[in-house]
This record gives sequence, structure tokens and C-alpha cells, in this order.
Amino acid sequence: MLQQRNIGNDGAEDETLLELDEEDYNKDGYIHPLNAPSTPWEKFTIVVLSIVFISIGFVCVHTVFTTKICVHIPNGHRETRFRAVDECFDHEDINGMLRGLAQSFIITLSAHEIEYWLDSGTLLGAKRTSSLNPNDLDLDIGMSLKAFQKLNDTLLPFPQRYKLEILDSVNYPSQTRDEALPGRYIDQVSGLYLDIFVFLPSIREDDGELMMGPIASGCWHECVACPGHPKHFIIPENWVYPLMPCMFEGVKARCPNSAKAYLTHLYGEDYMTRSWDFENYIT
Ligand SMILES: *[C@@H]1O[C@H](CO)[C@@H](O)[C@H](O)[C@H]1NC(C)=O
Repeated sequence: MLQQRNIGNDGAEDETLLELDEEDYNKDGYIHPLNAPSTPWEKFTIVVLSIVFISIGFVCVHTVFTTKICVHIPNGHRETRFRAVDECFDHEDINGMLRGLAQSFIITLSAHEIEYWLDSGTLLGAKRTSSLNPNDLDLDIGMSLKAFQKLNDTLLPFPQRYKLEILDSVNYPSQTRDEALPGRYIDQVSGLYLDIFVFLPSIREDDGELMMGPIASGCWHECVACPGHPKHFIIPENWVYPLMPCMFEGVKARCPNSAKAYLTHLYGEDYMTRSWDFENYIT
């Protein structure tokens, strides 16, 4: 109808169209459903629904970003007597607690000139990134028998949160330590710990080389070049001494002289690049 009326009326076509439009609608009283003004009740409902949906969206996003994912810490990786019923530690918490263990132990021993070196997975982390490995659940330190005796004899001012336990010790009594792992430094909030391996001196029969190593035990099961069953981690003294400075989690620490030989013996040639299934090999 509109088109018919406007044939041959090129110039003011649009204007006319608009006018006609209005006239038409007014005449017929017809309103297209999409143009109908909403009632106050409809407006109110739309506003309320919008608020509800926006709130739900906000709560979802908030939940995603704030929900803690509790990591299951196997019992073999902590002193279970310190486990809390309702605890929940995520990876960040665990890394923070391990970092605290390492830093407080290293700083206290350095201040009292008790010799130690980073061992096993902890040494690997120091060499790779100067920090913990992803998914680490404990820490390892090596000490000579002499240094361990000095540790045993010295009452050190460790922060309250931590507890050192040494086999047959008066200063650092323990019910649970054994010959294979005579010392353990424990975070009493989580039960996570730092293990102390004591390296005993010996002489290699073939060539009289000075050797050192902790007693053979299951602790060394992942060592690739260790002989025996249980495995015996025993290495030349000059792989360890003189100790070298190295950084770990922001503190100055001590590492074996030849970390390369040490780590190759433990983990193989590709220790720097190999990706470890830590969950698997620690337990
Ligand atoms: C630690 O000290 C206690 C008590 O002085 C002693 O009986 C024990 O043999 C010591 N252990 C080590 C490894 O030195």
C-alpha cells in the first residue's frame, strides 16, 4: 500500500513514508508487537532477572578464583602426628611451607657454622631453577658425620614452628628416627619435613679413594647408579668437598663440589631436562 502511494514521488520519499507510517498506525490503532512499550511490571521483571543472572555469574567467577584445591599429601611425606582433621593445603601452601623449612634450616646452620649440602631432589631443584621442583613434597640435606655430631651437640635457636629430631639425642629427642634417616627437621603446622642424610667416611678397596655415603637403605631406591639392594649411595669425597655456594629459594646455600657428577649418579645424564614423575618416584 505504501509503495503504491509513493510511486513517482522520488524527492520526499522518506519523509512521506514516515508520515504515512505514523498516520497508518494512528488510523488503525495497530502496534507491531515488537514496538509495544513494556508495562512497568515487565520492566521490573527484566531488571530483577538481570540482577539475578549477573549475580550468579559473579559468584561463579569468584568461586573459580578463590576455591582452594586441597593437595593430598601421602602419609609417607609427612609426620602424620601433626596432621589436622580439617586441613587443606594447596600447592602454593605446600611450597611456602617447604620454603620456610629450607630457609630456616639453612640460615640457622650457616649462622652456627655447621656444614651441610643440598642433596637429592633439593639439589636438583637448586641446579635447575635455584628453587623447589614442581610437586616437591620434601627436602633433602646431606651432612658429614662430624657436622651431624656438632648439630646434635649444639642447641640451635630454630623458630618455634619447627622441630629438629635426632636419633638417640638429648637435645633433639625423637621416637621415630632410625639409622637410615637419623635426623629430620619438621614443620609442626603441616608435618612436612626436611630429611638429613648422614654421610659416613670409607675407603674404596680397589684404589684407596676416600669415599662417603649414608648407610644403604630404601631411601635411595630411585638412584640409577647405586649398587646393592637396598641401594647404597656411596661417592668419592671430592665430589662433595670443597662445598660450593649455590642459591636455593632466595638464600645462600651449600652444594656439592661436583653437583653434575652427584646428580648424574643419582638420576642419570639427562637430570637437567628429564621430567620426573615425582609423585611416583618419591613414594
Ligand atoms: C647425640 O647426642 C647424644 C647425647 O649427648 C648422644 O648419646 C648421641 O650418641 C649423639 N648422636 C650423634 C649421632 O652424635
